[in-house]
Amino acid sequence: MSIPQSFIQELLARVDVVEVVGRHVQLKKSGANYMGLCPFHGEKSPSFSVSPSKQFFHCFGCGKNGNAIGFLMEHAGMGFVEAVQDLAQGAGLSVPDERASPAERAHAAEQRRQQATLADVLEQAARAWQQRLREAPQAIDYLKGRGVSGQIAKRYGLGYAPEGWHGLASVFAEYDSPLLVEAGLVLVNEEDGRRYDRFRHRVMFPIRNVRGECIAFGGRVLGDDKPKYLNSPETPVFHKGQELYGLYEARTAMRAMGYALVTEGYMDVVALAQRGFANAVATLGTACTAEHVHKLFRFTDAVVFSFDGDAAGRRAARKALAAALPYASDTRSVKFLFLPPEHDPDSFIRAHGHDGFERAVQDALPLSRFLVDAAREDCDLATAEGRSHMLSNARDLWAALPDGVLKRQMLGELAQQGQLPVPDLAALWAQAAAAQAARQPGGEGRVEGRPRRSTSRWNPPAQPPRPQPARRIDHATRLLLSNMRFLEELTHEEQALLRGQPAPHGPLIVWLESRLHEHGPQPWAVLREALAGHECQALAERLMTGSHAQTEGDEAELRWELRDLVNRMLAEAIQHEQNALIALAAHEPEALARYRMLQERRLALQKPRRGAA
Ligand code: CTP
Ligand code: MN
Repeated sequence: MSIPQSFIQELLARVDVVEVVGRHVQLKKSGANYMGLCPFHGEKSPSFSVSPSKQFFHCFGCGKNGNAIGFLMEHAGMGFVEAVQDLAQGAGLSVPDERASPAERAHAAEQRRQQATLADVLEQAARAWQQRLREAPQAIDYLKGRGVSGQIAKRYGLGYAPEGWHGLASVFAEYDSPLLVEAGLVLVNEEDGRRYDRFRHRVMFPIRNVRGECIAFGGRVLGDDKPKYLNSPETPVFHKGQELYGLYEARTAMRAMGYALVTEGYMDVVALAQRGFANAVATLGTACTAEHVHKLFRFTDAVVFSFDGDAAGRRAARKALAAALPYASDTRSVKFLFLPPEHDPDSFIRAHGHDGFERAVQDALPLSRFLVDAAREDCDLATAEGRSHMLSNARDLWAALPDGVLKRQMLGELAQQGQLPVPDLAALWAQAAAAQAARQPGGEGRVEGRPRRSTSRWNPPAQPPRPQPARRIDHATRLLLSNMRFLEELTHEEQALLRGQPAPHGPLIVWLESRLHEHGPQPWAVLREALAGHECQALAERLMTGSHAQTEGDEAELRWELRDLVNRMLAEAIQHEQNALIALAAHEPEALARYRMLQERRLALQKPRRGAA
């Protein structure tokens, strides 16, 4: 969406940064300002200051600073638009979207209203169950028996849903309201239409989103009844594949400790927090998804996945590996912690204590090692067959890594394990990918639903990306800096082409992409701030202030401009590859086939496209 700058100004004038920060950090008045413990780095004495007159926060310890929008983006991991919407909602304003039609706007407003209503209902249930826990000795004993203190129970908002079919009738005046069904709290008997509580006689774990709103529940039986855990169904506010239990509660600890711990269970999170690992989260009875990983990396640069030491744990680890690979850039760390077969994190930390768990975390397997282990599984590396099998297992895993130093190193590592010279392996995999691309018109093969990069990006270094005429790449970069969302509209091949441009353009595009991943589209004013001190700052400033800096105009116009530039670049890159193929085409049918395919693509790209779509 596109939010007018004037609205941002109005919003910032309406909200109070002290109040916004105060919801997340305990602040104390000190002179003209407010002080507290910095949520962005671990500290014992407060150096985090919030100024009501400047409407700014600043940490004298770590240097983080910004306004209310920046705070929500940094601390709650929201994107720019999300933070603006969040603040606007609190201030009773509605965010104008320059691009939306009146019908779209009305629909979006209705959706937000519905979500807010559901969150309210769930919050009421959470509070009622928390209250019930205090009156339920049996539930208290259960939690005590599992080593959970009152303080931790309070931090996680644990509650108790009492026995009986209509417990919530005493919480909600209107038990028949369809809202209770929609919120997943009440079920309707299909035969007689009678309603009853979904959660009965269970310890309740409220699941919160990153804003701290209750969006769902997990409930555990006190004994050995089945099912052991019952979860809220998918609702308009709850999507299992996206949410992580404990993320809201873990944010500050994740920053202070420098990493996030990902577990599989509610009790694991609570037990770890109880013993000093407040940085733990859990997937909600589902495999770890790429969306989970993406979300986590908004808060931290390091993730340690912890798995139960059984066969199911190993399977789950393989899924987490697949989810994490595309995000394993050179500045991030991903590790895998395998517990002994008889343990999960809860039982392990109870048996071995804080320090035992700490040691296990330190010994966790880096992604690079686990990738190799995963590829080697069931392969006998003493034989040529086994080594080939291993390499064939490794190919898709390796290809999923983002371009960078780690990826290069992994190629070396895998080549060594497979006893092949690195250039041979690179050539082999480039060829395989080319063949795959050739089989699929359009050149963009997909593997396991994930778009595959164009081959030209990881050909052996014999063919470096061809530098583009300076003005063309300048202008394309400028268009992207002022309209970041255009980046999402490019194909993977086009993105790879831009990423592969020589410095500083290529690295700036890489930065922009990761920014888009983590925060969504942002206006230049925000990007500019974020670029301060970055190696690409000078280029961006030059592009956005020079005499050609005007990128105003009709959005469709600008989109066409970018499309045109990228098409030209792509056509040139293709021509370049064709020139190299020509020599081979005489002897190699594959090269000839690829040449022809490229020829077709190039001609298609060079056709006038304006007005075609
Ligand atoms: N789970 C679920 N439904 C079940 C069993 C499990 O949703 N019937 C999910 C829950 O999120 C649970 C996680 O899977 O926390 C892990 O399950 P499991 O290992 O069986 O349970 P523990 O977390 O070890 O549970 P506890 O320690 O309470 O026995
Ligand atoms: Mn357990």
